[in-house]
Amino acid sequence: MALITPQIDVHLGQQDVERALRADVTSGLQSTPKRLAPKWFYDDRGSELFDEITRLPEYYLTRREREILYSEAATLARLTEADTLVELGSGTSEKTLLILDALHHRGNLERYVPFDVSEATLRAAAQGIAERYPGVIVHAVVGDFGRHLDRLPTEGRRIVAFLGSTIGNLFPEERIAFLATLRATMSEDDRLLLGTDLVKEPARLEAAYNDSAGVTAAFNLNILSVLNSALEANFNTAEFEHIARFNAEHEWIEMALRSRIAQSVRLEALDLTVDFAAGEELRTEISAKFRRERAESELEIAGFEMERWWTDSNNDFALSVSRPDSMS
Ligand code: SAH
Ligand code: TRP
Repeated sequence: MALITPQIDVHLGQQDVERALRADVTSGLQSTPKRLAPKWFYDDRGSELFDEITRLPEYYLTRREREILYSEAATLARLTEADTLVELGSGTSEKTLLILDALHHRGNLERYVPFDVSEATLRAAAQGIAERYPGVIVHAVVGDFGRHLDRLPTEGRRIVAFLGSTIGNLFPEERIAFLATLRATMSEDDRLLLGTDLVKEPARLEAAYNDSAGVTAAFNLNILSVLNSALEANFNTAEFEHIARFNAEHEWIEMALRSRIAQSVRLEALDLTVDFAAGEELRTEISAKFRRERAESELEIAGFEMERWWTDSNNDFALSVSRPDSMS
């Protein structure tokens, strides 16, 4: 069968991205506390560092999720009879192969739709998948899942996968709004496959976000390098420290960059000077940890009904399958 060249839709033009970055940085660095949106982590270097994170001994999430996919992918293919896999925040699409193989094995696989903000990573992944599955349509979409869910192709009987516990990087209200928006784009035969990391001992959680090799620290600090090159800023990454701590009340990991000294940073492209007190934190990301009840109730509020809840052998991570609720 012939190899079909991937189609790539780009909904995030250079100008668009620059405008969003300027707006976000301008408001985030002038808020109290200071904050930055996590999507700016993923420039080419950030995507490479994240890929390294997924292989760290402390970062159990990827291995656990892969373990679940390994044992349940065939069931998923049978349960859904899907011919199309849509994947939000697909990154390198590495674990995805387990799902695609299962759909292919069942003789159903027609189409793969990876969706990500990181264009270079997406292009490479789309090309790799097209070569691996001749005859399968690969329709990649460069976009922001906070803004462009309505641009996703709706052809086929779809599994919409959102893996890696990326949903946990949204705050609770944002998660529900995101899920409800997604729900509105889905038809009754479509299914949502959602990866969620589970609540566990704080020490293991904190180690997963503060590895001994310092890769996560480099990933977190890379957001400052993104600002340096995109906004002519002069952040000195050596003067900031990577922080990852478990917030037991909210059951999320919070990541921040703590200023080691009192300092002023200049962002020339924004004509903005920002002062940091010694010890002041710049918030970069949360990673929420779930219990089944919370995942199920958030899905329900957004108009989904959970049909399956699969965990790994150590109960570290969960994958759930949900259907659009016919009542909503
Ligand atoms: N699904 C992969 C990658 C997870 S990392 C895995 O499970 O290992 C999160 C991915 O989401 C990255 O590839 C990043 O580029 C992408 N991403 C982050 N914010 C996004 C946004 N707002 N819209 C679309 N993709 C986003
Ligand atoms: N979705 C991933 C998670 O929450 C993203 C992630 C992993 C991350 N390590 C990180 C984000 C470090 C910021 C910093 O596990």
